[in-house]
Amino acid sequence: MATKKTALITGASTGLGEAFSRQAAISHDTILVARNEKKLKELAVQLKHQFGGKHEIIKADLTEKKDLEKVAKVLENEPELELLVNTAGFGTIGEFSNLEVETEISEIDLNISAVVRLSHAALQSMKKRNDGRIINISSMAGFLSAPYSATYAASKAFVKSFSEALYEENRTYGIYVQALCPGFTRTEFQQRANIDVSKIPDFLWMNADEVAQISLEEKQKPVLIPGVINQSGILMGSLMPEELRRNLTAKLMQSV
Ligand SMILES: NC(=O)c1ccc[n+]([C@@H]2O[C@H](COP(=O)([O-])OP(=O)(O)OC[C@H]3O[C@@H](n4cnc5c(N)ncnc54)[C@H](OP(=O)(O)O)[C@@H]3O)[C@@H](O)[C@H]2O)c1
Repeated sequence: MATKKTALITGASTGLGEAFSRQAAISHDTILVARNEKKLKELAVQLKHQFGGKHEIIKADLTEKKDLEKVAKVLENEPELELLVNTAGFGTIGEFSNLEVETEISEIDLNISAVVRLSHAALQSMKKRNDGRIINISSMAGFLSAPYSATYAASKAFVKSFSEALYEENRTYGIYVQALCPGFTRTEFQQRANIDVSKIPDFLWMNADEVAQISLEEKQKPVLIPGVINQSGILMGSLMPEELRRNLTAKLMQSV
C-alpha cells in the first residue's frame, strides 16, 4: 500500500482546525496540534476509526518558544509533509489602551510569529520534494484596519500579505500557499473573543466545514475569500472612501 502524505494542522482541537483535520484525514495521515490534549486525543481516535491511517497529536502552546520549536522540528523532519494548515489564532475586542497588553502581545505571538516559524519549517521539507501546500488563516479583517480590534485585524493583514508573497516565491517549486480570509464562521472563536453573536444576522454566517472544503478545493488562489456574501462585503468595502469604511468598522466592532 502506498504511503499516505502527511498534513499538520494547528488549532485542531476545535472550529476551523478540527474541520480541516477531518477533511485532510480522508487522504492524509495527520498531526494534530493544540493545547487541549483531551480533545486532540478524541479527534485522533475518531479519525483513525473513520479513515484509517496514522493520526498523531502534539500538545503545544504555540505562544511558548519551546513548544513552537518542537512543532517546527517535526515539520522540518517530516519527509512526507504535503499540507500545513496554520489555523491556531484568537482575537481581542475593545479599545486598545484598555486591553491587557500581555494578551495583545500573545495574540501577535500566535497569529503572526507562529505562522512565520511554522511556514518556514514546512517549506524546508516541501522544497525537498517540490510539492506541498500551506494554508494560513487570515480573515476578512485582514483587509481592514479595525478600530476596537486593532491588533487582531493588523495580525490578519500580516498573514494575508505574508502568505501572498510566499505564494509567488514558491509556486514555481510546485508549492502553493494560500491566505484564507473567512468572514463570520460558527466556531468557538466568538465566545473566546467575548463577541455577542446575537447581533450578527444569520445570513452572514458560514460553517467551518464548508469554509475548510472551499479552501482545500482551491489550490491556485493566493488569497481566498470563501462565500459570495463575504466576497461582496470585501468588494463594497474596497469601493468606500477610507474614512467611511473606518467609521463603519468602528461602529460594528463597538456593537458586538
Ligand atoms: N470563526 C470566525 O468567525 C473566524 C473568522 C475569520 C478568521 N478566523 C480565524 O480562524 C482561525 C481559527 O479560529 P476558529 O474560528 O476555528 O476559532 P476556535 O474555535 O476558537 O479555534 C481556535 C484554535 O486555536 C487553538 N489555539 C488557541 N490558542 C492557542 C495556543 N496558544 N497554542 C496552540 N493552539 C492554540 C485552539 O485550541 P486550544 O485551546 O486547544 O489550544 C483552537 O483549536 C483563527 O486564526 C481565527 O483568527 C475565524
